[in-house]
Amino acid sequence: SGQRFPSPGRRKPLIGDLGVADPRHPLLSMLTLGANLGPIYEMQVFRQKFVFIASAELTAELCDESQFCKALPPAIEALRDYAGDGLFTARNDESNWQLAHDLLMPAFTKSAMRSYHPIMLQTANELFDYWDALPTDPAGTTTVDVTRDMTKLTMETLSRTAFSHDFGSFTSAEQHPFVSAMIRALETGRRKGALRTAPGGRYLTALLDRRNAQAQNYVDDLLDDLIAEREHTTDQHDLLGIMLNVAHPETGERLSPLNIRHQILTFLVAGHETTSGALSFALYYLSQHPECLEQAQREADDALGDDPTAMPTFEQVPRLRYIRRALDEALRIWPTVPAFARSPRSTTMLGGRYRMAPEDWAVIILAQVHRDPAVWDDPDSYDPDRFLPENIKKRPAHTYKPFGNGVRACIGRQFALHESVLVLASLLHRYDVAPDPDYELRVDERLTMVPKDFYVSLTPRRVPA
Ligand code: HEM
Repeated sequence: SGQRFPSPGRRKPLIGDLGVADPRHPLLSMLTLGANLGPIYEMQVFRQKFVFIASAELTAELCDESQFCKALPPAIEALRDYAGDGLFTARNDESNWQLAHDLLMPAFTKSAMRSYHPIMLQTANELFDYWDALPTDPAGTTTVDVTRDMTKLTMETLSRTAFSHDFGSFTSAEQHPFVSAMIRALETGRRKGALRTAPGGRYLTALLDRRNAQAQNYVDDLLDDLIAEREHTTDQHDLLGIMLNVAHPETGERLSPLNIRHQILTFLVAGHETTSGALSFALYYLSQHPECLEQAQREADDALGDDPTAMPTFEQVPRLRYIRRALDEALRIWPTVPAFARSPRSTTMLGGRYRMAPEDWAVIILAQVHRDPAVWDDPDSYDPDRFLPENIKKRPAHTYKPFGNGVRACIGRQFALHESVLVLASLLHRYDVAPDPDYELRVDERLTMVPKDFYVSLTPRRVPA
């Protein structure tokens, strides 16, 4: 469109704004770089222009499905090397998106959640057993690496519910090799996305591919194993069973073997670190706000009674309203999927003044939008009561979007919320939580955002005499 928006720093010939943002934390960098640039701003890296959205008002407009739709900016486009036309990376008009969406929706209904509930409980229990076996101080207190352990938990829950596969995450302190291989592969994808339009880009991306080959092979073998375990069965009780054995009720179409690989990878990635980050940020804010922690713990105690090892029933989970608000508020300040992108369906003037054509896209920086002072009072402070129904009603639509928007919104939203509330309630009922007084929040940006080096001390609560 030829239009220029404000951009941070002074643009250099050839490389543009390269080096302005921290390549290890590109989206976090936007929170500082974009702070004073207004509702819309841009950066250019080599020949690629990026447009960013910081305001709730423009976000609301971009979330109007009749005018805008999901876009795949270069960083997401690059993931197609791995996830192809899987649900997350599929283009809007790719026929496999609709097919997979129709086939897989039944795996995310309320009755499906009910069948996952016991698996979620069992997995959380294994995490607690793992913690209880760690060394303690004389008071019985143990210190745990929250993000690492929540990632074990969510990885295990996802693989057991979706693929009926046990990753054995709790048998070793280290993270599962899949997690590091995947992070490495995705990091490569992101770098390749950034280098696409660089001089010598083709050579550099080939180099990255070679360096990544080992991680890539590991991931490929793992996908082969997951499918081989199930290839000759006909059961349809989980996501993999549906993918392998169910035909579309109207068209009779099935997912191809290649598409199934893309979906498995998509679910493994989309389904675990996102939720692990949400749980970790929630625990971080609760541990920093004793009054919120107390209220959350009281809610868990009221629901679960005297036995500290009790866990919520399926019906109890949606009634844990305060814990849910604590989680919603954590995802407001730190949306673990930090951004999503939108394109207009036809040429339009965004906000009445910014021209956007269908080939243009804009990246919504959620952490900025979720802290827009036009919508949120004292936006950096943690206050779960912002999500009381009467307060939600006072806000305009589309001001809180941690799970994306419209037909391409998160298919796993209920799954993530059910698991997170269940785990937080059980954890707070079972342990007293104390923060490390010296810890200052640092955020690690992988494909998602998670707290870095965040530890809490847990002391098992006792059954009252
Ligand atoms: C899509 C966030 C958990 C599977 C999305 C999108 C967001 C998101 C923002 C839209 C991206 C875009 O517009 O480009 C989150 C957050 C989660 C979470 C914050 C946890 C707190 C999950 C879980 C699963 C999952 C548990 C699977 C079990 C997916 C899939 C898509 C998606 C498959 C693509 C949907 C489509 O385009 O059809 N997620 N997600 N997510 N998510 Fe999640």
